[in-house]
Amino acid sequence: MAKRVYYREKKMSEHKIICGDCVKELKNLKDESVDLIVTDPPFNIGKKYNSYADRRSKEDYLEWCKSWLKECVRVLKDGGALYLFNYPENNAYLMPFLDEHLTFKRWMTWHYPTNTGMSPTNFTRTQHSILFYIKGDRPNVFNKEDIAEPYKNPTDKRIKALIESGKKGRTPYDVFHFNLVKNVSKDKTKHPCQIPVSLIEIFVKASSDEGDLVLDPFGGSFSTAHACKKLNRNSLNIELDPEYCEIGKQRLKGIKEDEN
Ligand SMILES: C[S@@+](CC[C@H](N)C(=O)[O-])C[C@H]1O[C@@H](n2cnc3c(N)ncnc32)[C@H](O)[C@@H]1O
Repeated sequence: MAKRVYYREKKMSEHKIICGDCVKELKNLKDESVDLIVTDPPFNIGKKYNSYADRRSKEDYLEWCKSWLKECVRVLKDGGALYLFNYPENNAYLMPFLDEHLTFKRWMTWHYPTNTGMSPTNFTRTQHSILFYIKGDRPNVFNKEDIAEPYKNPTDKRIKALIESGKKGRTPYDVFHFNLVKNVSKDKTKHPCQIPVSLIEIFVKASSDEGDLVLDPFGGSFSTAHACKKLNRNSLNIELDPEYCEIGKQRLKGIKEDEN
């Protein structure tokens, strides 16, 4: 697949924060207007957010998810990608709906080596699932070389030949090992569930080019916007809570483009 080149004169990326309910706000976006969606909605586990009670019946929760996913499908360009974070037991139930509208690419896992609370009668949870879908049959972009990880055995004859032919490494496996953003991290905000920016960067690099528009309907602490600003993608972010929106605005001010 030929990589698209960002021909326009390089300009600062733009990051819009809409403080509101995404079910309503998404309806104001034009059909096929975004290149990529990366999002991490509430998981229906009773998490303490400022403005959102994260507890509904399972049926209600799934219907609510479908109401904004339907809009996500509408606003995504043909060939655009969706990365949907959630607990596996929620994503499993959302797949039949997504399968009707998008093309399934991969069920992926974010594994974090942290004990977030043990149960006396269950195994300790250390994973979120990430569903990767595209709209239509072919992705507009999959920048495999931009996310390549160094080969483990670069002295192997076959691998040496690949490196000599310009390959940078192997495409990441579908289980991502990143720790949670800890309180001691200099990037940590007051938001209760902040995704590591370096994890989101992988999906932004893979499924968009510079200058593209990335949507996150559940901004939270605005980690998606943070990754987009670093990578010169534009972003459109929706978040219900005014305090989190303010955190996001301040956070984005501190990030430089092309920051590494
Ligand atoms: C799991 S968190 C997102 C965290 C984010 N990925 C990050 O890294 O910081 C979900 C967010 O969705 C917000 N939210 C809940 N319902 C919403 C709605 N209807 N519209 C927009 N945002 C909503 C919550 O306030 C919360 O900040």
